[in-house]
Amino acid sequence: MTQPQRHLVTCALPYANGPLHIGHIAGCFLPSDIYVRHLRSMGKDVLFVCGTDEHGVPITLKAANEGITPQDVVDKNYDIIKRSLEEWGVKFDNFSRTTRPIHHETASDFFRTLYDKNVFSEQVTEQFYDEKADQFLADRYITGECPNCGFAEAYGDQCENCGTTLSPKELINPKSALTGNVPVKKETRNWFLPLDKLQSEFLNDWVATKKEVWKPHVFGQCMSWLNDGLKPRAMTRDLNWGVPVPVEGAEGKVMYVWFDAPIGYISATKEIRDDWKDWWQNPETEMTHFLGKDNIVFHTIIFPAMLHAHGDYNLPTHVPANEFLNLEGQKLSTSRNHAVWLHEYLEDFPGKEDELRYVLTSIMPESKDSDFSWSDFQARVNNELVAIVGNWVNRVMVLSHKFCDGVVPANEDRADYTVIEEVDAVVKRVDALVEKFSFREALTETINIARTGNKYLQDTAPWHAIKEEGGQKRVEEILNVSLQLVARFAKVCEAFLPNTSQKISAMVHLSGAELKAGGPLEKPSLLFEKIEDEQIQNQLDKLEAQASANQDVREKLEPIKPTITFDDFTKLDLRVGTIVEAQKVKKADKLLQLLVDIGLEKRTILSGIAQHFSPEDLIGKQAVVVTNLAPRKMRGVESNGMLLMAENTEGELVFVSPEKEFLPGAIVR
Ligand code: 2FM
Ligand code: ZN
Repeated sequence: MTQPQRHLVTCALPYANGPLHIGHIAGCFLPSDIYVRHLRSMGKDVLFVCGTDEHGVPITLKAANEGITPQDVVDKNYDIIKRSLEEWGVKFDNFSRTTRPIHHETASDFFRTLYDKNVFSEQVTEQFYDEKADQFLADRYITGECPNCGFAEAYGDQCENCGTTLSPKELINPKSALTGNVPVKKETRNWFLPLDKLQSEFLNDWVATKKEVWKPHVFGQCMSWLNDGLKPRAMTRDLNWGVPVPVEGAEGKVMYVWFDAPIGYISATKEIRDDWKDWWQNPETEMTHFLGKDNIVFHTIIFPAMLHAHGDYNLPTHVPANEFLNLEGQKLSTSRNHAVWLHEYLEDFPGKEDELRYVLTSIMPESKDSDFSWSDFQARVNNELVAIVGNWVNRVMVLSHKFCDGVVPANEDRADYTVIEEVDAVVKRVDALVEKFSFREALTETINIARTGNKYLQDTAPWHAIKEEGGQKRVEEILNVSLQLVARFAKVCEAFLPNTSQKISAMVHLSGAELKAGGPLEKPSLLFEKIEDEQIQNQLDKLEAQASANQDVREKLEPIKPTITFDDFTKLDLRVGTIVEAQKVKKADKLLQLLVDIGLEKRTILSGIAQHFSPEDLIGKQAVVVTNLAPRKMRGVESNGMLLMAENTEGELVFVSPEKEFLPGAIVR
């Protein structure tokens, strides 16, 4: 088979719900960047695309937690992610975003094509719709009369009075809990990708061709999905954050995030290339997706099924997914902040981009999970980069200045060229290893060039040779060979250690493959510095501080108040209340005016929660109410009670609510 000349390489789009950590880096950013640098060095035509995945529930949850909009969340994280990747030196042709209009258009067109080709199976169901709120109502947002016991305030899923499970359609005189309006019945559709059908028509046969192409764990995971039998999967969701579904009857629906995200690779291409079809539709282009193992099913089954169903697109050849990286023996975790963040590493270790690349490539989880530890980071940098690579290059440069006046000496007889041939064979092996995505082994072989160079210098000992007869010529030969090895090392390490490669190339004025005799040499400068114990300790302390943050939160808690008697407690009248109306209070930033149903009556209660909740989100919420608190007037309105809230040390508020929805007025004791 002839080798493809054109390569489209993608790196999984990270969710824009937080910065990148070393798990993302080792999972897909580093391997894809190494692969792309290698292909470019081989003179291939390469396009390398990525971007942020800005839709999906994680983003909306984060926004809700922080009280900001989803757009705010993704704007902030896009900037952090993009900047950290640039500073670290990943060379994307385009790092796009799935909230850009080009992506919405591309995803819409794609969806529309599948729709027009009748690929989707549609399921239409009747659901209640609130015309005033302009949205479909989830079951618990509908109330009405129970057909079983006649209770007037039964919910769409259950009657709290008699306990009967209901469906909203069974309620007599249903009304919307959002607006009190009478909801109308409206048909709603969902569009499913018939993966069952696509499995038998296409996926089984196509995946079978990948047995020898994909890594065993990628092929294995994919086969296990196929063996279980695929089921149709909904490609639309009732959410308001995402790419709107571009078909009639889909108003208020968006695409499933895993439908639009991989199309992000296409839109990132389209955004920068008029000839984007050559990259996606010309069979001479080879496509490679880099990703972490949690994304395997989407890139080996769902996206290929979409591309196949569309009909115009190439399918991926390689899907070199990595397994997971752990940190100091524990799972990396964004929520527990057990992570090394890329942007923080770059701040803490300025100029040490290659050191991180080196260590993460050495331990890359190519076929099984692996572990990053700071002590291992230090050992690998000090014992390998400093002691082997840095030391060798420095010795060759210092000796060349000492014995050869800082120019590349001659070696007309090509003395000792067997060493160079040996290294040329290693370079070929490195290339072959990178092409089969064995980056760890390729890096080991690369460092072996420095080992060979060191050994050659040790064996030939120019510092002794200079004292022998004819010593100057011999030393020139040795240093010529050594410098040619250094030049080869600079070239082959470019994919793994781009800054180091550049520094060496500048030192020896490398342009072609060989160094020409008489060419100038710069004064040597150190390639790597030792990582000191103190720097490692600082990182360990930082992790420790992150780990004990939860503990600290506990310690920040207020002390327990003095004991009260049981009689004191029973003076409180606590009941379950349901918020039925909520509105802002004029000229009071913090106050909301609530109408709370406490069973016996509805009460006006003012609550200082306006900066935490918007009124429309509160309707239907239940909370424990102190009902016998003396009335208090604020901003001319009398408040008759108080809603119980829990507040954490970060100032976040949640309602103290019954575990399941309860009839208003239920006593709390
Ligand atoms: O797992 C993730 O982080 C996803 N955002 C990856 C998406 S990859 C692609 F298909 F866009
Ligand atoms: Zn009932």
